[in-house]
Amino acid sequence: MIYFDNAATTYPKPPQVIRAVADSIEHCGNPGRGAHSLAMRAADEIYNCRKEAAELFGATPERVIITSGATHSLNMAITAHNSLDGTILISDLEHNSVLRPALASGKEVRIFNTSLYLYGEERTAAILASIDSLSRGASILITTAASNICGVTLPIREIGEYCREHGMLFIVDASQAGGLYDINVTRDCIDVLCLPGHKGLYGPMGCGLMILGENVTLPPYMHGGSGVDSRSKAMPELPPERYEAGTLPLPLISGLRRGIEFVKKKTPRTILEHEKKLARQLKNELEHQRIRVFLSKCESGIVLFNIDGFESEEVAEFLDKQGICTRAGLHCAPLAHDTLGSTGAVRVSFGIYNTAEEVREFSRKLRLLHK
Ligand code: ALA
Repeated sequence: MIYFDNAATTYPKPPQVIRAVADSIEHCGNPGRGAHSLAMRAADEIYNCRKEAAELFGATPERVIITSGATHSLNMAITAHNSLDGTILISDLEHNSVLRPALASGKEVRIFNTSLYLYGEERTAAILASIDSLSRGASILITTAASNICGVTLPIREIGEYCREHGMLFIVDASQAGGLYDINVTRDCIDVLCLPGHKGLYGPMGCGLMILGENVTLPPYMHGGSGVDSRSKAMPELPPERYEAGTLPLPLISGLRRGIEFVKKKTPRTILEHEKKLARQLKNELEHQRIRVFLSKCESGIVLFNIDGFESEEVAEFLDKQGICTRAGLHCAPLAHDTLGSTGAVRVSFGIYNTAEEVREFSRKLRLLHK
């Protein structure tokens, strides 16, 4: 089997991630709910996961909140600001996990242009100009750091500086960027960074992170037991407990901790370069077969394409029969597809375990479909 759907979830997971999940089930109690050895061991696991994430993303461990995933983090961040007046700005590359909660907030939502066909400083300048033209009356800016359909990256630091200067709250969806790009909550002026655990951080599905910038306080999203200050009628004032009602998914957190350690050891830059190299190889192979690839530069390990005469779903189904996993259609990001001028496409997305030989095999198999 060849797995080319790492933007949906990275697969396989490193063996130490799988072992940590099982170890945690076998050897840990409920974190923060007792002073006995099994509870303490669980609390240590969680602290170490927060610490690893904090180091990777330039935050402090207590500002790393455990959630069920990026969608949960984004909903928490967006609904927490429902009482804030003003419009919301989002990019034209957003996934439904940003678009839908932004629209559901009832606020006016304006969409800024990411100028996909420009590169480097030119793109940055065009994005900032688009934001500036729409920012009157805006109080929140939410953007993806890297698109889930085409891998285009946004200048997070420059947008963060703009938001800080103009008093706008800055929320970043790093679903596709975490573990690959250098993102630093403090340096990049990010107020809330939202991440899944199971993509570029190589953890299991079911847990993610919401990392708060230095001066950000949100109302609690859920209310309940937190293991501290039990007599109080309200949730604790301080993070992380303020945002973590109920028992945390400890086995998943243990897995995520090992996933982050794995990424840090390999280094995000090395993983990104490996994926980009495979993406360039695939793009060359596809163009050799006269297949239309969206966008001309490989900014990440994602390649999006269509074959004339076939629906994207037909191509993915054919590939599946050949033992190759890809994802077709809209990838829960219809806004981004509209921006690209696509009504659906086949997405190949690489991870650290993919190889050049797999790309060659993919190319050989694809020729069988349209030769
Ligand atoms: N959002 C994930 C994807 O792009 C699931 O496939």
